[in-house]
Amino acid sequence: MDFARYVDARRAEIEQALAAALPAPPACPRVVADAMRYSLSAGGKRLRPILCLASADAVGGPRALAMPAACAIELIHTYSLIHDDLPAMDNDTMRRGRPTLHVVAGEAIAILAGDGLLTEAFRLMARLPESADPAIAARKLRAIQVVAEAAGAAGMVGGQALDIAGGASADDPLDDAGGQLRALHSRKTGALIRAAATAGAVMAGADAPAVGGIDAAAAEFGLAFQIVDDVLDIEGAPATLGKTAGKDAASGKRTYASLYGIEGARCMAADCLERAERTLRSAGLADSALMDIGRWIVNRSN
Ligand code: IPE
Ligand code: IPE
Ligand code: MG
Ligand code: MG
Ligand code: MG
Repeated sequence: MDFARYVDARRAEIEQALAAALPAPPACPRVVADAMRYSLSAGGKRLRPILCLASADAVGGPRALAMPAACAIELIHTYSLIHDDLPAMDNDTMRRGRPTLHVVAGEAIAILAGDGLLTEAFRLMARLPESADPAIAARKLRAIQVVAEAAGAAGMVGGQALDIAGGASADDPLDDAGGQLRALHSRKTGALIRAAATAGAVMAGADAPAVGGIDAAAAEFGLAFQIVDDVLDIEGAPATLGKTAGKDAASGKRTYASLYGIEGARCMAADCLERAERTLRSAGLADSALMDIGRWIVNRSN
């Protein structure tokens, strides 16, 4: 199957599973159910859940076992976007081609919808896949830990905190600015992308070397993803991106593009891809959709 068809097929499965993932009235109040669905159904790329399923495929395990984790990660990602766009954070008014949730529902409901999505993610992973097999229960527990670490204070939350605290301000002295920025990007965006791939491999029952190879390669994918996000913030058009462009420069953020220039940043994303390919090759996993996803991350226009 060619990669475009692979992505279409996985995305269709993911949309179907996501539609059933969240509680609805009367189990939960309509105000929060509608708010969560507004942002979730706005049409993101679904890159993280596709990566999670591709990782299960790469190790030859049943993809269905990875679907709850794939959906959970998309719920967490969607929560992170809602909170990232809040006035207290990046103060953005457009996301996934729509007005941001706080613009249409108010800040309090946007905060609560984010809280709801984050919490529902872990409910989903604890509940599904349903199985009496202790080996599956052990995989679920491990995947929950992988995802929690990536989403939490050592991962995305920590990276967002550094970002907001000016951990990479355009005015900082240049001493090891590159190292600091790499660490910030690896946490704020890289960690969840890495966890998507790793959780997929864990749920599919991969052995330790395969999980390790996928984890290391996906760390490179995750960094490359945010490097390209920084470039697209300069080069992209809002209509294609589905979000406001030019925000990083306007808020004085240090980015890969501001530090290394657009060409330099693109080269660094390509280097990430090369390192990922070497890692996957030595783990015997290069002939899978994973490398296609890496190329998608680097060559995307939204
Ligand atoms: C945007 O992520 C936010 C970052 C982590 C940089 P995506 O570009 O994957 O957003 P969607 O899911 O397609 O909307
Ligand atoms: C945000 O990075 C990463 C998240 C954890 C949501 P950005 O602030 O650069 O993401 P965009 O550009 O708003 O999508
Ligand atoms: Mg941000
Ligand atoms: Mg932002
Ligand atoms: Mg950005």
